[in-house]
Amino acid sequence: MANKHTIEELSYEARTFDPPEEFAAQANVTAEEYDKAAADRIGFWAEKAGRITWDKPFDEVLDWSDAPFAKWYVGGRLNAAYNCVDRHVEAGLGKRVAYHFEGENGDTRTITYSDLLREVSKAANALTELGVKTGDRVAIYMPMIPETVFAMLACARIGAPHTVIFGGFSAHAISDRVKDCGVEFVITADGGYRKGKPSGLKSVVDEAMQECPEVRNVLVVQRTGQDIDWQEGRDLWWHEVVDRQSDEHTAESFDSEHPLYIMYSSGTTGKPKGIMHTTGGYLVGTSYTHWAVFDIKPETDVYWTAADIGWVTGHSYIVYGPLANATTSVLYEGTPDTPHRGRWWEIVEKYKVSVLYCAPTGIRTFMKWGREIPAEYDLSSLRLLGSVGEPINPEAWMWYREVIGGDRCPVVDTWWQTENGNILISPLPGVTATKPGAAMRALPGIVADVYDDEGNSVAPGNGGYLVIKEPWPAMLRTLWGDEERFRKTYWSQYPDVYFAGDGAKIDKDGDIWVLGRVDDVLNVSGHRMSTTEIESALVSHDMVAEAAVVGARDDTTGQAIEAFVILKESADGGGEDVVKELRNHVRAEIGPIATPRSIMVVPDLPKTRSGKIMRRLLKDVAENREIGDVTTLADSSVMDLIQEGMSGDA
Ligand code: WTA
Repeated sequence: MANKHTIEELSYEARTFDPPEEFAAQANVTAEEYDKAAADRIGFWAEKAGRITWDKPFDEVLDWSDAPFAKWYVGGRLNAAYNCVDRHVEAGLGKRVAYHFEGENGDTRTITYSDLLREVSKAANALTELGVKTGDRVAIYMPMIPETVFAMLACARIGAPHTVIFGGFSAHAISDRVKDCGVEFVITADGGYRKGKPSGLKSVVDEAMQECPEVRNVLVVQRTGQDIDWQEGRDLWWHEVVDRQSDEHTAESFDSEHPLYIMYSSGTTGKPKGIMHTTGGYLVGTSYTHWAVFDIKPETDVYWTAADIGWVTGHSYIVYGPLANATTSVLYEGTPDTPHRGRWWEIVEKYKVSVLYCAPTGIRTFMKWGREIPAEYDLSSLRLLGSVGEPINPEAWMWYREVIGGDRCPVVDTWWQTENGNILISPLPGVTATKPGAAMRALPGIVADVYDDEGNSVAPGNGGYLVIKEPWPAMLRTLWGDEERFRKTYWSQYPDVYFAGDGAKIDKDGDIWVLGRVDDVLNVSGHRMSTTEIESALVSHDMVAEAAVVGARDDTTGQAIEAFVILKESADGGGEDVVKELRNHVRAEIGPIATPRSIMVVPDLPKTRSGKIMRRLLKDVAENREIGDVTTLADSSVMDLIQEGMSGDA
């Protein structure tokens, strides 16, 4: 394999990497799995349900009679926390490490499955004492610490769906979600360690709670010991309430379709969607895909998903999938460059991580920092690498394979979404000859396709819209409180198929390349945000009359946010600090990840005659390209004015 990238090599089919023979020989999954699933998809998923322990067996695998509202494993009863914890201890695996926790500040904790059982039982008893009941929603706003997992599993144990809110989100984002979800109980921490210092979380919750009088208790984990405000009667310390509980708790079983969690994600409008997952199908799906895609050998592997539990990747591949499979995982609190840029590789060396799963934005950052940094560490324990969250460009894929994987580890580029619950399109590491940058094929039991505008499958070599043609166990069941939006968003573009909102291409071998969003959803470092959400945040500032946001290509983050704003006349030009102020305003409204890379004050925005902002023209400006077709603009001189103003760009 030549390292020099010639033009031919960069064309899609030029480079393929067969699974190493040794890897294929020991792999969990062989090629027959595809045939088996294709011959009897429902039978295949019935068999996979055997991975899970059911209190009461299900009567029917799938009920799709009320499509698009699916019911999987109908009539079955189970407890998710029991499946993730108790049954492993009962099987004699109590001493196995569930998590090697590594705090950013260097503190560590080893949590075995027995420890996990005790901690989760105590937390479940505490929630019950505090009046949390089956069906109540609990919001969790936490750093990446073991208590976050304890809290989630305690909720699952008593059948109270959790809604985890990413720790980087603002007070406003919390109150929105708490209100939408009808949350009355919040779990948080005083703070966490990020970039070398304690960050505040409780203070953000306090601010959010001003708008959420329905919340009766805030349970607070002490992580950093920083000073925090305290509201008597409402606020409770975790160590005071949880620690004094009995460490025994009998898990009750719930219906297979009992809601497990709600995870909010950006859609094309300003209002985040509450994506709802249920219990049985989700556990079967995450457990199976974790085992198949990552070739997990629970006795020997040390598995690390370097993502945040506040995103679906963390739910499915830090918590539920790995725990259902009795895996040993790494849980890392902090950032990749604290206290130094070799931190990740130090962790791989220290815990002998064998399977690493992360996002392309991280890989591109490491590329920028240089290969000499990982070269200082022993990465020979690695045997498989995964990527998720955004398209991975072939250079980053190759770098990951060569520099991190020592040219011996298969790389699996996994495509999926919060809505999907688990990986849907990915190579199987012991089967698939991979291509740099391609998610390749739908997993066994999943039926994916690429459609043209009319809903016909595109011929090999062509692009279109990614669709999933058959229901799958871990699929979202609805959007919380908004069935109409659920139908409209995913099931209305084409009859009877799930519309993913991603563009994709099928190459001449029939392999799938996912190209990214086709709607007004941005993907910044693998985080989904809607243009409308950021535009609304900008317009909520006194000085702003109108705003348009586009995602522009960025070498590190994949896309970066570029904003164009029209100021109100009363703002009187806004002064020099206007850009800084608006940037801070967006940070405060949504969170640091939504901060625009640049904000340009413009006299007007390009609009069609019907008043729709033509974002593609602004994207041309942001990406420094020649401006596209302006003939449908109501006033075509607008673009000249914007370009003239470019020198004033921040
Ligand atoms: C994008 C993250 C290309 C895609 C698990 C999708 C990807 C959105 C890939 C979902 C990939 C995720 N290749 N694009 N391997 N993985 N995406 O809900 O646009 O945070 O629709 O779920 O990320 O993001 P979400």
